[in-house]
Amino acid sequence: MTSQALQRAESLIATIPDFPEPGILFRDISPLLANADALRASVDALIEPFAGQFDVVAGIEARGFLLAGAVAIAAGVGMAPIRKAGKLPRPAASVDYALEYGRASIEMSDDLTPGTRVLLVDDILATGGTLRAGQQLLAELDLKLAGTAVLMELVELDGQAACGPVHSVFQV
Ligand code: PRP
Repeated sequence: MTSQALQRAESLIATIPDFPEPGILFRDISPLLANADALRASVDALIEPFAGQFDVVAGIEARGFLLAGAVAIAAGVGMAPIRKAGKLPRPAASVDYALEYGRASIEMSDDLTPGTRVLLVDDILATGGTLRAGQQLLAELDLKLAGTAVLMELVELDGQAACGPVHSVFQV
């Protein structure tokens, strides 16, 4: 996929001021997801540094799911959901963390064999709290972190310090 397709993909990420709270600039990837070429280019770019190095993709609820399923199909591997607390019938591990706006807890089932190589995927890297919690969750379940990848990194918030190195397709 061309860099032109990636540029087009980046241009489709909308910036919405004051959502979900005043002062927050919300990055909406919905227009990118709705465009086939942009979605394909984004998925390929997410995978590229880790090709052949992971057995499963783990996506973080909810927006991480939107990408992780597509990445799994494109890479020919399975997908494991990391869910917000209270959604899984048999959570095997749970990690509490701070968000850019609020707190949350994420959980995972023990469907994967210890040692499985997992590519951790989300849409946005902001403070890095969410992805760090995801990494901790994988470690608690004795899974091997093959890499961490996001569509967009908000550089100013220095999430890399919390959970880096993170591969980001776009940086703002
Ligand atoms: C957003 C985003 C990332 C996280 C990034 O998720 O999808 O998961 O925040 O922020 P951080 O780097 O500061 O942790 P949110 O919790 O809003 O949930 P959603 O995906 O369900 O909208």
